[in-house]
Amino acid sequence: MTKIPYIPETAPFSLEQRAWLNGFLAGLFADGGTSEAPQLSAPAKAGEPLPILFGSQTGTAEGLAKRIAKEAAQRGFAPVVLPLNDHSQADLAKSGKAIIISSTWGDGEPPDNATNFWSWLQADAPRLENLHFAVLGLGDKNYSDFCGAAKKFDARLENLGARRLVPRGECDSDYEASAKTWVDGLWEKLTPGANGAATNGHANGHSASTNGHDTKHTFSKTNPFPARLLKNVLLNKPGSAKEVRHYEISLAGSGLAYEAGDALGIVPVNCPALVEEMLAALSCTGTESVLVSNAAMPLSEALTRHLDLCKPSPDLLAAVAARAPISELAPLLAPERRDDLKKFTWGRDVLDLLRLVDQPFSHLELVPLLRKLAPRLYSISSSPKAHPDEVHLTVSAVRYESFGRGRKGVASTFLADRIGDAECVKVFVQPSHGFKPPTNGDAPMVMVGPGTGIAPFRAFLEERKACGAQGKNWLFFGDQKRASDYLYETELDAWHKEGHLARLDLAFSRDQDAKIYVQDRMLANAAELWSWLEAGAHFYVCGDALRMAKDVDAALHRIIETAGGKSADDAKAYVAKLKSEKRYQRDVY
Ligand SMILES: Cc1cc2nc3c(=O)[nH]c(=O)nc-3n(C[C@H](O)[C@H](O)[C@H](O)COP(=O)(O)OP(=O)(O)OC[C@H]3O[C@@H](n4cnc5c(N)ncnc54)[C@H](O)[C@@H]3O)c2cc1C
Ligand SMILES: NC(=O)c1ccc[n+]([C@@H]2O[C@H](COP(=O)([O-])OP(=O)(O)OC[C@H]3O[C@@H](n4cnc5c(N)ncnc54)[C@H](OP(=O)(O)O)[C@@H]3O)[C@@H](O)[C@H]2O)c1
Ligand SMILES: Cc1cc2nc3c(=O)[nH]c(=O)nc-3n(C[C@H](O)[C@H](O)[C@H](O)COP(=O)(O)O)c2cc1C
Repeated sequence: MTKIPYIPETAPFSLEQRAWLNGFLAGLFADGGTSEAPQLSAPAKAGEPLPILFGSQTGTAEGLAKRIAKEAAQRGFAPVVLPLNDHSQADLAKSGKAIIISSTWGDGEPPDNATNFWSWLQADAPRLENLHFAVLGLGDKNYSDFCGAAKKFDARLENLGARRLVPRGECDSDYEASAKTWVDGLWEKLTPGANGAATNGHANGHSASTNGHDTKHTFSKTNPFPARLLKNVLLNKPGSAKEVRHYEISLAGSGLAYEAGDALGIVPVNCPALVEEMLAALSCTGTESVLVSNAAMPLSEALTRHLDLCKPSPDLLAAVAARAPISELAPLLAPERRDDLKKFTWGRDVLDLLRLVDQPFSHLELVPLLRKLAPRLYSISSSPKAHPDEVHLTVSAVRYESFGRGRKGVASTFLADRIGDAECVKVFVQPSHGFKPPTNGDAPMVMVGPGTGIAPFRAFLEERKACGAQGKNWLFFGDQKRASDYLYETELDAWHKEGHLARLDLAFSRDQDAKIYVQDRMLANAAELWSWLEAGAHFYVCGDALRMAKDVDAALHRIIETAGGKSADDAKAYVAKLKSEKRYQRDVY
């Protein structure tokens, strides 16, 4: 079937021109411009503008928004896809309709490209009575504030008088099917009777990838590439408390392309020893047949490749509590005991839960109660210009002891321990939006990346070197001890010596009594950092989201206040402007 052409955001047109052209093309093709074009039974809205606004940290919501836009164009709308922070271009107060697709980050917070939108919505937005809206949340039920950002947007829009087109949708990590159901409901509302006629399968993850490519021709999240692992090198030296490894993976023959700043998705495989323990706990051999996502397979295959044996799902917790009503767990399921439940589940896996019940679960009872094993993302630490056909990663192996058993992070130890010479690792590229070196090669760049947060900045520095970009580069790196944890020491020192890194500031936290962190180095260099910002520097942060990224953000505000002589409110506005100019970008996890 011929696809209806769609003008991408990168095309050299203004927003209005793009909307008009998309509407024109949709109208032309939907009206029978080609005999193969879908016949819409209700294409009455031809050319109606439809802003599709996304909040997305790692590209999933953005990819979905773009796919929905393609469908919208096929249904005769003139869709425009924008990050939520660029909402002013959509003029929501005047707009007839708007679709919002947003993930949630931190602990119930909007992603970075939606934070300015959220501030506006809370403080500055006018009444939005003319707006008809629909919100779809992408999240993960492992987090206590599931789809928190989408919930906030949805409630606040209602509060401002906007009218809901369809109830808010909420999708867990395996979002494709629930997103499709929600999108189908939306089209039923917007173009009644035309459902299914024009979708061309785009909202269905089985026929279109997250990247919007046709899976028949390209490798993608739904059709990952089996790649060879070329190198696995321990970066820490003896005496380190950490195990951070550098991986080199071949993309030869895959047709996969990536850019510095993108992430690589890894499809992990569970540890065989843990699978054996699970089979023993279930009194099974592994040959028993089970259904996972409607596909029949042997239990051992399901436990090895398809099911998450680490994080107990809410369904499993409820089922265990029902079988062990007098256990410590049952009372923790009350909503007001959320924090206690978090403490209880910390360090407990599925096996630990199974051991709480006297009346064991059968394998047929257990399988539907388990989460699907999700791919893990890793910030790419190479530039394709420096390493054609290869992708490099910098991964900390997760290993710890809990309740008397050694535990292993699924993906990080799969990479570290379990890929033999003959085996492959299934990968896909997760494009980032905006987390890229500045397009202007002359713009200065400040990078804050302690620990594995160094990964994308190695890629940025390789990229700028390969392009001959002349902008100054400043890196803040830190880890526990210089002697054992100075990751990529030789490369970083060489770049510093030759001037590719104009500044390299190191913070080794455990080389002295008092901790020194990257933000302490930033504060000690406040005046110079301020002058870089004023000279147009882009400011990047990568690594730990829970503590480091928050403290670095606080330090940035302080620097703007002290070195820039601004009030707390003006510093906030300065940071909001950096974000809206896409000069403050984070890749935090
Ligand atoms: C965009 C993005 C980029 C990323 N880039 C990188 C990167 O460049 N390098 C990198 O190393 N990681 C990176 N990560 C993190 C990575 O995706 C994985 O989350 C990480 O490797 C752990 O995955 P795993 O499968 O090995 O562990 P899992 O099997 O997912 O286990 C981790 C879980 O184990 C539990 N746990 C961990 N430690 C303990 C403990 N001491 N006690 C009790 N429970 C514990 C926690 O519940 C934790 O969530 C990135 C994440 C994102 C979202
Ligand atoms: N689940 C866990 O228990 C656990 C443990 C470690 C890392 N992680 C996660 O794994 C990812 C990568 O970890 P990593 O080993 O690469 O690096 P990391 O643990 O983030 O440590 C890198 C450096 O950052 C320092 N640091 C700690 N708190 C900080 C703060 N508030 N501000 C600034 N710097 C701070 C560390 O110091 P000190 O260590 O000396 O304080 C260390 O020197 C992160 O997402 C991290 O959250 C999880
Ligand atoms: C560090 C981190 C924090 C997250 N916090 C939440 C959360 O609080 N609530 C939630 O529902 N999902 C949370 N998620 C899950 C993401 O929202 C989910 O993976 C989503 O699909 C990501 O979409 P994006 O790629 O468009 O950003 C979190 C994920 C990460 C890695």
